[in-house]
Amino acid sequence: MSEQLKRQAAAMALTQVQPGMRLGLGAGSTARHFVDLLGEKVAAGFACICVPTSEATARQATALNIPLSDLDALDRLDITIDGADEIDPQINLIKGGGGALLREKIVAATSDQMIVIADSSKLVETLGRFPLPVEVNRFGLGATRCAVAAICASHGCEGELRLRLTEKGDSFVTDGGHLILDAFFGRISRPEALSMDLLNIAGVVQHGLFLNMCKKAYVATPDGIRTLSSSN
Ligand code: A5P
Repeated sequence: MSEQLKRQAAAMALTQVQPGMRLGLGAGSTARHFVDLLGEKVAAGFACICVPTSEATARQATALNIPLSDLDALDRLDITIDGADEIDPQINLIKGGGGALLREKIVAATSDQMIVIADSSKLVETLGRFPLPVEVNRFGLGATRCAVAAICASHGCEGELRLRLTEKGDSFVTDGGHLILDAFFGRISRPEALSMDLLNIAGVVQHGLFLNMCKKAYVATPDGIRTLSSSN
């Protein structure tokens, strides 16, 4: 059921794509549906050029013969279509559950528009139920972890700060070669301030709060697609 809903949201986003557009391709299971559907369109002769936000997305798109480029060759994109782990009523997001948050944020920031696709399980009143991913440099992990823990505590973090591991128990390493700390907040009451405080820590590469970056979301519910718009 959920996969069906994700695919419906992806299909809705595809209606926004015009021939010749430069697209950012997100990561994760919902974005995967979008890439699948775009691949069908490309096979039928549709022209576009795309920048993937993860190595996994790049592999999927390549297998579907979707033309790929990068942000060295393209300095602006028209639309990025991506999933999210949480969406609040202003379409602020938590992303990075799959570990691709850094490239996702760079690609979204380079795009004129970001469209989020999701099923309704991702909707929240306040961000923070989903653990906030904080991408950190490997160098200085211990010191960076202490600094991140202190900032999270000062923002009312109720839970722990956990180094993300793979299923085998090794450290999870991002496409950029960094590590991820997941912060179990429960509730993030001042996301803008938290964002700035985290980015002020030298060892923090990026975090998964996407604030004021997205103005449209297609959320698939069992009763149909809800279009969320924000003027933020
Ligand atoms: C990848 O790092 C994430 O930001 C994904 O976009 C997010 O985790 C949503 O993934 P799903 O579509 O698989 O829920």
